[in-house]
Amino acid sequence: MLAIKKVEFNGRLMNASGCYCTTRDDINALMLSQSAAIVTKSCTLKPREGNIMPRYYENSALSVNSTGLANMGFEFYQDMASAVKEITNKPYIMSVAGVEKDENLEIIRRLHNNDIDLLELNLSCPNLAGKPQIAYDIDATDELLRSVYEIDLVAPVGLKLPPFFDTAQMECMSDILREYDVAFLTCINSLGNGLILDQSMKPVIAPRQGLGGIGGSVVKPFGLSNTMKFHEFLPHIPIIGCGGIQTVSDVNQYISVGASLVQIGTELIKKGPGIFKSLSS
Ligand code: DHB
Repeated sequence: MLAIKKVEFNGRLMNASGCYCTTRDDINALMLSQSAAIVTKSCTLKPREGNIMPRYYENSALSVNSTGLANMGFEFYQDMASAVKEITNKPYIMSVAGVEKDENLEIIRRLHNNDIDLLELNLSCPNLAGKPQIAYDIDATDELLRSVYEIDLVAPVGLKLPPFFDTAQMECMSDILREYDVAFLTCINSLGNGLILDQSMKPVIAPRQGLGGIGGSVVKPFGLSNTMKFHEFLPHIPIIGCGGIQTVSDVNQYISVGASLVQIGTELIKKGPGIFKSLSS
C-alpha cells in the first residue's frame, strides 16, 4: 500500500488541484470515480469569483488557464472533508493558496477538521496580477515555510511546486526544503504565463492579456525532469508527479523517474472522471 506519512492510498492516480474539484458536484464526481484521492481547488480565506471569462482553453497539445483562484473559500473545503469521509475513505487533500501576505498562515492556523488528511500548499499559482509565484523566490519560500511548520498543523503539509528550468535552481530549492518536514512534493504546477493566440492573433483567454498557466502534453518533459531531479536531491520525500499525463505509459514514465503517485489535470478536464478507470486498467 502506498502511503504519505500515515495516509494510505489505494492506487496511484488522483486529480490535479484546479481540475474537477471546485464545487460540491465536482467533488462528488471525484468521490464516485476511481481516483485514489481527492485534491481540492486551491482555496483562499474568502470565496473568490476569479478572473473574467473566457479563462480556459484547450487544444490537442495543451491547455491554458487563468482561473484566478475562483473557489468557495477554505471553510467550504474544510467542511467538504467530513462530507467526503461519510462516504469514502479516500484521502482528502486540501490545497491552499493564500493571495495576500500571511493568508496561507491564517488559513492553515484556522483549520481544525481532522477529516483533512493532507494539505497541499500551493507555492506556484501563476495567475494573480502583481503576485509573483512564491516558489520562484527562494528566500520568500524559506520564510513562509519557517512559519508554516511552526504551526500546530491539522494534517501533514506537502508543497506544490512550479516547474524549474535550471537544475541549479532545483538544487537550491531542495537545500531549503531539506530543513522542513515536507510531507510530499507535487511536481509540477502549470508553466506560468504562456500566451496562445487564435487565427486572428487574439489571445484565446481574456484575463491578463491572455497570459495563463500551460498544461497538457507539452509540459510533460518538464514534469518528468522536475520529478527526477527533486527525487534525486530529496529521496526521503515522496513525489506526486503531475504534468501532461494522458496514458498509462505516461504514468509509468513518472513512476520510473521517482514519482510515488500522480495527478491528472488537463486530461481529466477533457475526458471527465472516467479517466481514472481508463488509466487504472
Ligand atoms: C490557479 C492556477 C494555478 O496554476 C494554480 O496553481 C492555482 C490557481 C488559478 O488561476 O485559479
